[in-house]
Amino acid sequence: MTTIVSGADSQTLAAALARELDVSLATAEYNRFPDGELLAAAPDFDDDRAIIVASTVSSDAHMELLQLQDAVREAGAEEVVTILPYMGYGRQDKAFEAGHPISARAVARAISTGADRVLTVTPHEEAVCEFFEPTATAVDAAGRLAEPLPDDLEDPVFLSPDAGAIELAETVRDAYGDGETDYFEKKRHSGTDVEITPSDVDVAGRDVVVADDIIATGSTMSESVAVLQERGVGRVFLTCVHPLLADNAVTKLSRAGVEAIYGTDTIERPMSDVSVAPSIAEHL
Ligand code: R5P
Repeated sequence: MTTIVSGADSQTLAAALARELDVSLATAEYNRFPDGELLAAAPDFDDDRAIIVASTVSSDAHMELLQLQDAVREAGAEEVVTILPYMGYGRQDKAFEAGHPISARAVARAISTGADRVLTVTPHEEAVCEFFEPTATAVDAAGRLAEPLPDDLEDPVFLSPDAGAIELAETVRDAYGDGETDYFEKKRHSGTDVEITPSDVDVAGRDVVVADDIIATGSTMSESVAVLQERGVGRVFLTCVHPLLADNAVTKLSRAGVEAIYGTDTIERPMSDVSVAPSIAEHL
């Protein structure tokens, strides 16, 4: 039998997955000692298969996941399946300069020591799956991003802010069932300074859905929206798998004039309208 154990930041998705799979959900506890150390535990876990659902959105979440993996093993789990709805540090998939770590590999190795199997949803680069031992399974959730879009999009364009996300934009268009696709070129000068070079797609009076895997600081999206506004776009909808929306991203995007922001529950935010639970369940 299987029991799901949730990290503190993934409780909504863990509950949705438990319903989807019709399995029980353990009550995990998340405590902190006065010196700052964490103690995550699953005191009522008593099963032979654990599915741990934990987006590693922070260093604390990483630590908590390692503790939960160890706790269920201590409690007798013979199989531990770890779901990383959002894999933190996944974008640090190479050493950027001499002396830098490959952070994605470092966290993957640590997580692998406590898991028999790892699944992660729409990783930034699928190659990060190979950092896990055994190789992690990438769950593609992009098709679900069309679910909350309005039915009445006007002559829509599904756009990615860089060439790397064009497949994602195409998947959303295919799931929506109608529309053109295109992509912009992006040059990143720093964490928040992004330069967008538009394509020559005609967006005047048309509704545009900008699709990306992650919205982090919102710089990529706000620059893209500014370019679209200059070209007389109709409504602009933003959609992403991982609505990280750090710092003042939501304000930045609202000021840019977007109609709506949609994301999934890989990261729990007010705009996590889409659940990836059915996509994960297909792989379990
Ligand atoms: C990077 O290539 C990703 O696909 C996203 O475009 C990026 O993570 C978005 O970051 P930000 O919101 O900080 O511009």
